[in-house]
Amino acid sequence: MKKLGIIGAMSIEVEQLKEKMTDVSVTQRAGMTFYEGRLEQLPVVVVVCGVGKVNAAMCVQVLCDCFRVTHIVNTGVAGSLCADLDIGDFVIGESAIYHDFDCHVLNPHYVVGQVPGIAIRAFPADKQLVNFAFDAAQTVYAGHAKIGRVASGDQFVSQKEKKQQIIDDTQALCTEMEGAAIAHTAWRNCVPFVIIRAISDKADDSAQMDYPTFEAIAAMRCAAVTCEMAKKIFQDG
Ligand code: ADE
Repeated sequence: MKKLGIIGAMSIEVEQLKEKMTDVSVTQRAGMTFYEGRLEQLPVVVVVCGVGKVNAAMCVQVLCDCFRVTHIVNTGVAGSLCADLDIGDFVIGESAIYHDFDCHVLNPHYVVGQVPGIAIRAFPADKQLVNFAFDAAQTVYAGHAKIGRVASGDQFVSQKEKKQQIIDDTQALCTEMEGAAIAHTAWRNCVPFVIIRAISDKADDSAQMDYPTFEAIAAMRCAAVTCEMAKKIFQDG
C-alpha cells in the first residue's frame, strides 16, 4: 500500500492540503506536527518541516522511521534561476543539489554540491513521480512547467551575482532551502521522491520586494499540483 509523505517548509505551503484531508490523526515528533490521513483517497502524511536543510532532513528521517512512507514529495516556493520561468510557473525537480556545499580546497574533484563520501553530486528524483508531477502541473497551469534541477542552500538568494554563481555552479532551474536535503535523506533511505516548486521571485535584487507579494499565490498553486499528483498516484494503484 502506497503512503505519500508531503513536506512543506512553511504552513502556507501545505494548509490547503490539510483542509482537504480525511480520517486525520495528529502526532508530534522532533518538534514537528505530522497529519496522517487520506488525500484524494491516497494515504498521506502531511508535515511542515520548517525552513532550511537540517529541518528538512530530520523530517524525512521521521517520515521514514516512524510513518513508513513509501514515497515523498516536497511542495513549496522557489526563486527562479531561469529567464523562461516566471512568477507562478512550476519546476518539477528531476534532481536536487546543494549550492552551498563546497569542499574543493580539500580535493579538486569536490566540485560545488559534492558531499565527500557520496557517489553522486545531485540526488535523482523518481522518474514516475516526476512524470506524475509534470502531468499534474499541466492540469493546473498548462504550458507553465519545466523539468530540471533544484539547487538548495541555507540562504534566501536575493542578489544577481549570487544567483549567477549558483547557476554557473549547479545549472539548476530554481533555488530554495530544503529540496536537496529532502532528496539526500530520501535517497539514503531508498525512498522515491520528487520536488514540486512554484516560482515566487526571481532570486535577484527584486526578490525581497516580490517574495512577500507572491509567496501565498505560488505556495497555493504548488499545493494544487501536489493534490492533483496524489490523485494520479492513487489511480495508479
Ligand atoms: N524560496 C523562495 N524564493 C527563494 C529565494 N530567492 N532563495 C531561497 N529560497 C527561496
